[in-house]
Amino acid sequence: MITPQAGGFGAVVTGLDLSRPLPPATLAQVRAAWAEHAVLSFPGQPLSLEQLEALTLQFGPFGEDPFIRPMPGHPNVLELRREPDETAKNFGAGWHSDWSFQARPPAGTILHGQEVPLVGGDTLFADCRRAWDSLSPAMQAMLAPLRAVHSARQAYGTQGVFARETEARAMQIVTGEAAEATQVHPLVVVHPVSGRRALFVNPVYTVGIEGMTREEGLAILRFLFERIVEARFVFRHRWAADTLLLWDNRSTLHFAEGGYDGHRRVMHRTTLAGDAPLGIGAAA
Ligand code: SIN
Repeated sequence: MITPQAGGFGAVVTGLDLSRPLPPATLAQVRAAWAEHAVLSFPGQPLSLEQLEALTLQFGPFGEDPFIRPMPGHPNVLELRREPDETAKNFGAGWHSDWSFQARPPAGTILHGQEVPLVGGDTLFADCRRAWDSLSPAMQAMLAPLRAVHSARQAYGTQGVFARETEARAMQIVTGEAAEATQVHPLVVVHPVSGRRALFVNPVYTVGIEGMTREEGLAILRFLFERIVEARFVFRHRWAADTLLLWDNRSTLHFAEGGYDGHRRVMHRTTLAGDAPLGIGAAA
């Protein structure tokens, strides 16, 4: 059963056993629901790492996860772990879509709750489709042909957030020159399945707009970042152990909330390979 969340996007999916291969018709229904609702939550799904990997592969090949060392023996699974005594900022605490600086950013991400803190640790999602829809026709016409510049440098570069932090962290993060590269994508993208348009920018990885000065680009980007995360476009996911989330990186941003110092939080994450984002012109 697919129950849309109140508030405009996201849905809860019940009645499936994700530890076994989904029948083709069911998989097609889940895919269609994913394109429509953008974030799907599947409560009560205990899965081994092998079952998580097998589930991911039902949706498509693994994406490529740079800058974070994967789990031993599981090169396509990241463990997002924060120990009770950690003081470093929790991982993912900035609005982003996963790896948007790649030439082919991951179409989706799967996150499976292992150990969930009693307080805090929610994941927030913002709907970049309705944020786009909310703009005036004049603003949409101005933004439609633009291309935004993405880079991992603010997070993983030589002077980035992780390179500068001094606190210990359970996760092994690899910073360096590779993160300084840039990649240009359409600022407005068309979803390959639903055909819906969405803003494709985020404050962690989008660093400018092609052809504009830094000041000009940032002025427009700041306006868009604020619009995307307005409360009317945001949905809050509260975790329980064994809940599995599947989200769409082409139409949403997400933010991992903290507020659980003194508690352990452990998640297992895989990404689904994607294509180069389609701009409006390319999709027309
Ligand atoms: C992330 O993938 O950005 C982290 C999400 C989370 O831990 O809630």
